[in-house]
Amino acid sequence: MKKEITTKSATETKAFGEKIGKILDAGTCILLSGDLGSGKTTFTQGLAKGLEIHRTVSSPTFTIMKVYQGRLPLYHIDAYRLEGLHQDLGFEELIEDEGVTVIEWPDYMIDRLPEDYLRLDITRTGESSRKFKLSCHGEKYTKLVEELER
Ligand SMILES: Nc1ncnc2c1ncn2[C@@H]1O[C@H](COP(=O)(O)OP(=O)(O)OP(=O)(O)O)[C@@H](O)[C@H]1O
Ligand SMILES: [Mg+2]
Repeated sequence: MKKEITTKSATETKAFGEKIGKILDAGTCILLSGDLGSGKTTFTQGLAKGLEIHRTVSSPTFTIMKVYQGRLPLYHIDAYRLEGLHQDLGFEELIEDEGVTVIEWPDYMIDRLPEDYLRLDITRTGESSRKFKLSCHGEKYTKLVEELER
């Protein structure tokens, strides 16, 4: 299943993330792909709000992963600095865990991704507009996107 959504500001991207965050359940994985500054972290900030996380979500670039506690735990991974690294960092167990895993730059850890996930490919279409292409891998994620449309 594929779908496209356009946002016209960072606020709209956060609102979109929040809408997804509100309907997520445990053991969910969301991949965020897109250039530097496309809005991956901005989207995650909204998603965190939807998970009732009150701490500020910032880019985990220098720590690779940050954990936030909300309605469900959020594991925010930025795989940018993992390029070429192949040692076991224990992410697989986390992704299978009872939380929500959001991965920026998922193509840099392609050999360690779960089978099922929702992937968002973000493109900058203007100074403040972004296009989100959603692709669902697995029935759970198809249902999630269907629910989003309700
Ligand atoms: N429609 C929009 N959606 C999201 N961000 C937007 C939008 N319009 C403008 N922006 C701005 O673009 C920037 C997006 O930065 P953000 O840190 O979210 O990108 P990123 O994809 O996480 O980058 P990186 O690859 O460096 O982690 C922010 O400064 C945000 O305010
Ligand atoms: Mg980021």
